[in-house]
Amino acid sequence: MSISNQLIIFDTTLRDGEQSPGASMTRDEKVRIARALEKMRVDVIEAGFPVASPGDFESVKAVAETVRDSTVCGLARAVDKDIECAGRALQPAASGRIHTFIATSPIHMREKLRMSPDQVVEQAVHAVKLAAGFTDNIEFSPEDAGRSEVDFLCRVIEAVIDAGATTINIPDTVGYNLPHRFGALVGELIERVPNADKAVFSVHCHNDLGLAVANSLSAVMYGARQVECTINGLGERAGNASLEEVVMAVRTRQDMFECDVGLDTTQIMTCSRLVSGITGFPVQPNKAIVGANAFAHESGIHQDGVLKSRETYEIMRAQDVGWAANKIVLGKHSGRNAFKTRLAELGVDFHSEEELNNAFSRFKILADKKHEIFDEDLQALVSETFSSDVDEKYRLVSLKVCSETGETPDAVVTISIGGDEQQGCAAGSGPVDAAFRAIESIVKSDTDLQLYSVNSITSGTDSQGEVTVRLAGGGRIVNGQGADTDIVVASAKAYLNALNTIDAVPNRAHPQLGDV
Ligand code: KIV
Ligand code: ZN
Repeated sequence: MSISNQLIIFDTTLRDGEQSPGASMTRDEKVRIARALEKMRVDVIEAGFPVASPGDFESVKAVAETVRDSTVCGLARAVDKDIECAGRALQPAASGRIHTFIATSPIHMREKLRMSPDQVVEQAVHAVKLAAGFTDNIEFSPEDAGRSEVDFLCRVIEAVIDAGATTINIPDTVGYNLPHRFGALVGELIERVPNADKAVFSVHCHNDLGLAVANSLSAVMYGARQVECTINGLGERAGNASLEEVVMAVRTRQDMFECDVGLDTTQIMTCSRLVSGITGFPVQPNKAIVGANAFAHESGIHQDGVLKSRETYEIMRAQDVGWAANKIVLGKHSGRNAFKTRLAELGVDFHSEEELNNAFSRFKILADKKHEIFDEDLQALVSETFSSDVDEKYRLVSLKVCSETGETPDAVVTISIGGDEQQGCAAGSGPVDAAFRAIESIVKSDTDLQLYSVNSITSGTDSQGEVTVRLAGGGRIVNGQGADTDIVVASAKAYLNALNTIDAVPNRAHPQLGDV
């Protein structure tokens, strides 16, 4: 059997990535990320789980309407209503795929599904045949394949390929596998399933033991030709295999792989920053490829080596993954055109003059406070502009905080609630705590603060602080973001953004917990 030399990159940031607590995205945010993924030439974009809620359905449909050059995929359990719903959501897609799944491990069949192996095979085949009424591009996943029995996997896979599945995805759902065994499992399936040549074998690895990328690459060496991954490794629990790591490993070690990816890797940084900005999941500085230190040479020896010959310490070129960091791009005298052009280069298009004007006036305010504006500042600024797509019920009007050594800080905040200004004040254990309490004295949101984090967007004490606030309430968990050169103001903006978002995200069901 001949195996293709193209490695299909299947991005599931908008589906599995969104299953991370707090990473919920609105429809417009999903469309923005999908556009960036399409620009990077990702082969398949899994846009969501349409049956989860009307909002999820609309998001998948909107991505299907927008994206033309990548295949758009929707997830469906192996049940009729999911498949019919996914089929409808994907109808506008230039190229659509239904991804249906059912668990095959003994523990999942017994405890979660309460079904016998025979019933599982029957339902899997029925689901694939139903999906074939909507599209001939059908992916099937035996969920928890990494803990399933090989003989049973062979049986299910053969049956679903006969029923019309064109991609067979092998998930290590709980991140339990080790690279040599996982690769060998995929190799064995490709060898033993009689009709394996009629499907592309794929892998979907979770990172519970920090092995998602290693397991995925091992499977590629054994013949897998699709890898499912996410930007920045976002995803359930410890996340999924990180797209940028998989892609750059295959690209950089072409001496070891019999396949290559078709991606424009120079778009990686743009996608990474976009996803981080929208979800509020910061990227750790030492993260491979996209972390702030990934191409920084701190030690004198390394710097000397790199100056003599880059290859002494660098295995990739920073510009090949889109790093143009620390480039001063704009300043306070830059005009509207320069602003718009630089953002277009960063993959940001404005939908209306009003949106551009709004972003440009925020830029002018920032440029007055901060003389050098970097790409990172621009990206944070547009994230804020677009996040006001969610109905801005609460808006920060002003904030005054007193903080003095030995004294309890207090804050006075004025916010506009649907146009009506209200003032609140409170003391707190620190200035941020006081500001949040002052907001709550007005809003009384009955939410729980689950996470508070501050990152500096660029270097220097005049850098903007980017704050993420995670709130839980009414069965939803959301992240809010805010950026400002004053981190207490950034914090208040992030808190209000989270409050605005909590009403905008659907109260969605989880595809794998059977709670739809
Ligand atoms: O982790 C998993 O098993 C999944 C499936 C739905 C493919 O996300
Ligand atoms: Zn998963």
